[in-house]
Amino acid sequence: MLETGVNKVIDEGRQGEATLVESTNSDKGKKLYIESYGCQMNFSDSEVVASILTKEGYSTTRNVDEADIVLINTCSIRDNAEQRVRNRLTDFKKRKEEQPEMVVGILGCMAERLKKSLLEEEKLVDLVAGPDAYRDLPNLIEDVGSGQKAVNVLLSRDETYADISPVRMDKGGVSAFVTIMRGCDNMCSFCVVPFTRGRERSRDPETIVQECKDLFDAGYREVTLLGQNVDSYRWNMTSKGEITEPGKPTVNFAQLMEKVALVSPDLRVRFSTSHPKDMTDDVLEVMAKYENICEYIHLPVQSGNTEVLGRMNRAYSREWYLDRISAINRIVPNCAISTDVITGFCGETEEEHQDTLSLMDEVKYDFAYMFKYSERPKTLAERRFEDDVPEDVKTRRLTEIIDKQMQHSLESHQKQVGEVQKILVEGPSKRNDAEWCGRNTRNSMVVFPKGNAEKGTYLNVKITSCTAATLLGEIVE
Ligand code: 5AD
Ligand code: SF4
Repeated sequence: MLETGVNKVIDEGRQGEATLVESTNSDKGKKLYIESYGCQMNFSDSEVVASILTKEGYSTTRNVDEADIVLINTCSIRDNAEQRVRNRLTDFKKRKEEQPEMVVGILGCMAERLKKSLLEEEKLVDLVAGPDAYRDLPNLIEDVGSGQKAVNVLLSRDETYADISPVRMDKGGVSAFVTIMRGCDNMCSFCVVPFTRGRERSRDPETIVQECKDLFDAGYREVTLLGQNVDSYRWNMTSKGEITEPGKPTVNFAQLMEKVALVSPDLRVRFSTSHPKDMTDDVLEVMAKYENICEYIHLPVQSGNTEVLGRMNRAYSREWYLDRISAINRIVPNCAISTDVITGFCGETEEEHQDTLSLMDEVKYDFAYMFKYSERPKTLAERRFEDDVPEDVKTRRLTEIIDKQMQHSLESHQKQVGEVQKILVEGPSKRNDAEWCGRNTRNSMVVFPKGNAEKGTYLNVKITSCTAATLLGEIVE
């Protein structure tokens, strides 16, 4: 989902909330309603889906009552994310009793996992399309119309939707996601993503840069480059570094980021997610070189203990991870760092848990997303290990981790009180219409009285006070 909180320190974290996609395409008749659950990638995919169906004459709506087709873009990362979607599908099934013509479909990660049961056994949906099958949606919708089974969950080795210009959720918006790669080849033992999203593949850099230019021309002032592991972005190169098409240029992530940074000094560039095993100094050096590349890195650690990291198949040790943190602090000294932590992974002892807490003390993260381990079918961990940490122990460890992070987030914000920071105005604050909110380069949300300022502009804001989640300030000339 679109991250709205700066420091969401709850078990559900980024995954699980719904976001709607809306466009204002001329209405040729049928109405589409899309709800997205899960990560930013899903949110971005819904914009691609809206684009594909807009070309077919659909217009999007925020009112499900007037929808001809309802699509739910789903997430499988933890069991509770799936449960939430199932409850929603049950709601729609009831609604269909009153609106029998309405087509209900699922997209995204649950599609691949649960196609058979959702479509045939539980009869909760009419249509199922996996993450690489969105171009096929018009045909699938036709299949539903003619009473056929509408399912396509084929994963592709090369689909990147490179040529599709996404329909942006927030017309007149300030910040947009740009997908630069899809899938994942890492095989972390806890993770369902390689099974639901398939093999890793990178998108043509020219189409990425063009999309960023178009966004800037449309008034956007921030792009977040998205991939499951952005550090392994590569164009015209195999994973071993061999050139695929001789004579054509190769592009790695550092080079791609530089190209995007050069679109305009007034376009802020962010990226997510980095992998500690692949994050190289050249990426940090590009960050240090361009003022418009934000000083913020999300570097999921998962655990502070080397043995647990081994069981997780993360391919780095605690020491390696801490070396990457030192590199960030050395090359981009003001950089904020956030992380993901999983607590109660298979076989995690009390000592191993203490190592996560001590690593948090060493790094002092600015933000963190923290989760209880949730066993996922088909994963390496499900096949190899027992999910043996009792629920009450997982809960207690999670609370300890959250409490520590709250303290660190508060301290990080307290250090910023008194600073004058450059803020990109995103829109009205959630709580008070007389106030704007926007982010600083470190990705902290800052709230301040509106004055004469406008959305989408940069302002100098003096930070006057804070909580663990938000900075409060006032505009200075
Ligand atoms: N259980 C709990 N958390 C998980 N994550 C991924 N898979 C699982 C799982 N099975 C977390 C990781 C990842 C984030 C997106 O979700 O911390 O970085
Ligand atoms: Fe959820 Fe992962 Fe799929 Fe995103 S890629 S929707 S986080 S399972």
